[in-house]
Amino acid sequence: MSADLSRAAERRAKLVSLFARAPVVPVVTIANVAQAVPLARALTRGGLAAIEITLRTPAALDAAVAIRAEVPEAIVGIGTVLTPDDLARAVEIGAAFALSPGATPDLLEAARDLDLPFAPGVQTASEIMACLQRGFDIVKFFPAAPAGGISALRALSGPFPDVRFCPTGGVSEKDATDWLAQPNVIAVGGSWVAPSADLASCAWDRIEARARSAAQLMKENGR
Ligand code: 3PG
Repeated sequence: MSADLSRAAERRAKLVSLFARAPVVPVVTIANVAQAVPLARALTRGGLAAIEITLRTPAALDAAVAIRAEVPEAIVGIGTVLTPDDLARAVEIGAAFALSPGATPDLLEAARDLDLPFAPGVQTASEIMACLQRGFDIVKFFPAAPAGGISALRALSGPFPDVRFCPTGGVSEKDATDWLAQPNVIAVGGSWVAPSADLASCAWDRIEARARSAAQLMKENGR
C-alpha cells in the first residue's frame, strides 16, 4: 500500500471509530471562551463525547484548547473549516477530527496531506464524486434538511452505495433517529443539543438534559 493510501485508510478508520463511539455530534458556536469547559462537561456528563466547535467566532480555537486541557473525556473536533489554513489550525490545537460545509479542491488536497480525520461537506452528486476522487468517502451532508432531507440521502445511496454521510443542518431531536436509521448515515450533527442561546444563559443543566436524551435515543436505536 502506498504511503498516501495507508494515510487515507488510517484517517478513515479513525473517523469510523469516532462516529461509532459518538453518533450524535453537537455543533456548537462558542462566543466566549469561558463557556467552553462547562459546555463540554455538560455534554460529556449527558453521554455525548464528540463536540464540533465551529470556527465562527474568535473564541473558537481557544475554546477547543481549553476543552482539550480540562475535559479529556471530550472528543474535540473543529467545524466550519473553509480553507487549508483552517485545517492547519485544527491540527495545531490537536483536534481529533474536522468537518467542512463544503469540498473545494484546495481543501481536499490539503486534507489529503494530513493525518487529521476530515469529513468534507457535500450536497450534490458532483461534490461526492470530487470527494471520492481524492479518497474521501465519509462526508458531511450539508445543509441536510434544506438539501432534500432523508429522501435525497436515499437517492444518493443509489449511485454511491459505499459513501457514508453525517447529515447536519436542520436535523432535530425529533428526527435524529430517523436519519440514523438510514444505512448510509454514520452519524448526525446539529446545534439542537447546545444552542447558542443556552450557552449565553449558561443553561448547562438544560444542555446536559438534551445530551442525555440524545444519548438515550441512540441507545434505544442500537447505536
Ligand atoms: C451548522 O453548520 O450550523 C450546523 O450544520 C448546525 O445546523 P443546525 O443549527 O440546523 O443544527
